[in-house]
Amino acid sequence: MNKLPRTTMTPDHPVITVGVSLVVLAGMVLLSVRPPESLGAGPAGGVAHGIADAVEQRLPASGEPDALTVVDPAALTGLEEEALEYDGVSAEVSFPVLPNAEPLTAFLRERLAAEVRAFDAASPGAESYRAGWSVTAASDGLIGVRMANAETDSEGEKETRATYWYDTGDGTTRGSQSLLDGQSGLAALNTLVRERLGDSADAGAVLPVASLYDSVGFNPDGDLVVEFDAGQVAAPGAGPLTAVVERAEAEPLLSGFGRRALRAATTGVEEFSVSAAPQGDGGPADEPVPGVLPPVDDAVDCADPEVKCVALTYDDGPGGGTPELLDLLAEYDARATFFVTGLPVMEHPRTVRRAYAEGHEIANHTLNHPDLAGMGAGGVHADLDTVQALVYRETGYTMDLMRPPYGSTNDNVGSVTRDMGLAQVLWSIDTNDWKDRDPSVVADRAIDGASDGAIILMHDIHPSTIAASHKIVRELDARGYRMVTVSQLLGDTEPGERYVDGVPDEPPADAPSDGAQERSHRPGD
Ligand code: NI
Repeated sequence: MNKLPRTTMTPDHPVITVGVSLVVLAGMVLLSVRPPESLGAGPAGGVAHGIADAVEQRLPASGEPDALTVVDPAALTGLEEEALEYDGVSAEVSFPVLPNAEPLTAFLRERLAAEVRAFDAASPGAESYRAGWSVTAASDGLIGVRMANAETDSEGEKETRATYWYDTGDGTTRGSQSLLDGQSGLAALNTLVRERLGDSADAGAVLPVASLYDSVGFNPDGDLVVEFDAGQVAAPGAGPLTAVVERAEAEPLLSGFGRRALRAATTGVEEFSVSAAPQGDGGPADEPVPGVLPPVDDAVDCADPEVKCVALTYDDGPGGGTPELLDLLAEYDARATFFVTGLPVMEHPRTVRRAYAEGHEIANHTLNHPDLAGMGAGGVHADLDTVQALVYRETGYTMDLMRPPYGSTNDNVGSVTRDMGLAQVLWSIDTNDWKDRDPSVVADRAIDGASDGAIILMHDIHPSTIAASHKIVRELDARGYRMVTVSQLLGDTEPGERYVDGVPDEPPADAPSDGAQERSHRPGD
């Protein structure tokens, strides 16, 4: 995982203050009300004794109806706290440490550093990152840790939330998205959440993508609670928003893991400890994460000779006309790849999220559109890294393709992109749409140039290109092309390698093969 930040070991003596300052920092009120001493969940009076034995007696959980359950940290035996060490923006981040839950500690140490680092990289005016924690479940072999963060940059302070779920049995930690039963469960929840938020949110911004569902849990009654960061689905001034979906409607949408979490979060905790180290090594759970959308569609096989594939690519955006382009692509069930540039991403973040949610591929086209071949390794890395962080924060997606501006690349760029896990994508058809702002000229170049495996270069910041795209998409569709993402066209790509097209690599019948040629690896010019 070369994209994760370095993390340093923490002090030998973690601060043991599960205290007031943290609670204040987290912006929460910890309810210290103890559940009733009588384990009162069962039938009163001892009538029907046999049934009472079968009914599990559980303490009610504590918390507010419109917020995640709160577990009193005093109930957690051996609880300590660790402070994150981060070399960069001013960071005050702490997280809980429990005996026999080392994989949770390791996960939080790495993940929180990655989140701080993404904030640092994505925010040119980054000033500070503060984060405090609370526990929202500690029962049934699960621990839920909720982080409440305050990010400060030149725009001011923004509150964000994230909740992680640790399985004490196998040592895995999952993000909140994994509480849902696959992408369909998340999509169904998203519809309910959009209804619940009503006019308080911008409905078009509420999409079933990972970035929006990173803080999900339950209130003490088991209703599902989704926490959105400030500015994520409404104007930043509105602060963080919360949606509550009633238990009866939410429960059918949960994964098995999610149902365990529901049970844990609705159980009051008087005392909790992890009795033994986990069985597993705490590596990531090997399962797809709802809301993390692969840029390929398994139903399309571009390697099939009967299937003609072409990749439409749009650079330098998104722009004001990109939503119209997305409407068009949706109409034809076509996919495109958007090589986005940093400043437009900051200007149109929700367009990026929408494109991602609709199955298009998002790829890196640098922050400021420099000639990378004229830069040092550090500069290339920093520029690309900022856009990686911007898109990750908006979508939850880590891009693995980039396109060097002007197609200008060299060994240095190859080396940096290899280290960053990014393949370099050039093009086989140049529409020159930036120069010739005539829709019919641009459309003809794209349509005439199209062939199986072609990668077509355009720019969605020009109205003439949006206009041309209507004809291009209609005509390519009529000619039987599947318009696919670059990752769909190329299949697996190698970081650092250059690709200009996805033409199937059959050696020419009339020429001797020169051996190990790489058909889709031809260097671009
Ligand atoms: Ni460009």
